[in-house]
Amino acid sequence: MSSSAVSESTPELEAFIRRRIGEAGGITFAEYMEHCLYHPEYGYYMSPRVRIGKPGDFYTSSSVHSLFGRLLARQVAEMWELLGKKSFTVAEQGPGEAHLCQDILDALAEEAPQCYAQLRYRLVELNPHNRQRQKERLSRHLDRVDWCALDDLAGMEGCFLSNELVDAMPVHLVEKLDGKLQEVFVVEQAGELSEELRKPSTPHIAEHLLRLGAGPYEGNRAEVNLHAGNWMRQVSALMARGFVLTIDYGYPANELYAPFRRNGTLMCYHRHTTNENPYQHIGCQDLTAHVDFTALEQFGSAVGLEPLFFGEQYRFLMGLGFVEALMELQAKERDPQKAMALRMTLKNLILPEGGMGELFKVLVQGKGVGKPDLLCCRRISDLPVPPSMF
Ligand SMILES: C[S@@+](CC[C@H](N)C(=O)[O-])C[C@H]1O[C@@H](n2cnc3c(N)ncnc32)[C@H](O)[C@@H]1O
Repeated sequence: MSSSAVSESTPELEAFIRRRIGEAGGITFAEYMEHCLYHPEYGYYMSPRVRIGKPGDFYTSSSVHSLFGRLLARQVAEMWELLGKKSFTVAEQGPGEAHLCQDILDALAEEAPQCYAQLRYRLVELNPHNRQRQKERLSRHLDRVDWCALDDLAGMEGCFLSNELVDAMPVHLVEKLDGKLQEVFVVEQAGELSEELRKPSTPHIAEHLLRLGAGPYEGNRAEVNLHAGNWMRQVSALMARGFVLTIDYGYPANELYAPFRRNGTLMCYHRHTTNENPYQHIGCQDLTAHVDFTALEQFGSAVGLEPLFFGEQYRFLMGLGFVEALMELQAKERDPQKAMALRMTLKNLILPEGGMGELFKVLVQGKGVGKPDLLCCRRISDLPVPPSMF
């Protein structure tokens, strides 16, 4: 892990946060993270700067290669069939640079035109600058796409998608000390932002951990995402019938809160380097925490969302035909160097170590759809061997 070399921050945001700390006598880490990422004017995700891909701070699967979205389009098309091949909504919350939307729509337009014709792709985007760039990227599909607020999705039938949304929700930081749960507050000491452990700001934190049957081990630090439960409840309430497909990096609770994870999973991204100091580059670096997929499943089940698939991204993509698609793409590439570069790029999506294949998980939940065997659920051993492998 390398530290970011160039120091960069947004002074207006830092001044705002210091004022809040002064007024409140210290703020929870969750409030600090909320301001850093989503302050309406100066928050990391609200500014005009591109955050994703080469000019930004990090890559997401959808920005690595269009194959990711193209494979997802196969799953979307199957969901459309399962819902009776009629008018269908795909809603994507937090679409970033709209790579995923573009690749799904390109693929459906080419390979499933009937589905494309009945589809409305709705983007839930907080940042007006992003919305403008998304419009430009999606210029070929503007008759299929619109932008809306989450609540406008009420009564939707279709598929609710997100990629790396939940890891960007503000989290509470907790530590277990002498058997007691403590919460991290951000305070000012001798002019510097620093941390102080206090009694938890809300009983919901302990209740959340109790419900999961997990929690930090003695001496360990961990994150608690209280937004995720409300989000699942909201998404389920909006969905009349259909699927919720959530992609993110994370673990089931027993792995997330395992004894060896002494410092939790909070991570900062700045210009393609990672660091563990959330008090630098304020407003100019991303802050994220790994997702607790057990909590998402539990919250979902409690509000009528049945788990249909949960697994690593590599299993999900393999089920959707990753190997065949890779071979087809390679076969089209005449230049051996370019073919090699393509292979290396695509391997990143499925590699367990150093890639996105294992750390990234996919959860598919259904409401009012029964228990269909989705394409993504195909086991690797049951997949047909592509003829080009012989
Ligand atoms: C890590 S980025 C992922 C972007 C994109 N999905 C991708 O895969 O490239 C997280 C995105 O979630 C968005 N986000 C977070 N909370 C949101 C909310 N409540 N509504 C809409 N977008 C949100 C952020 O603005 C940011 O663009």
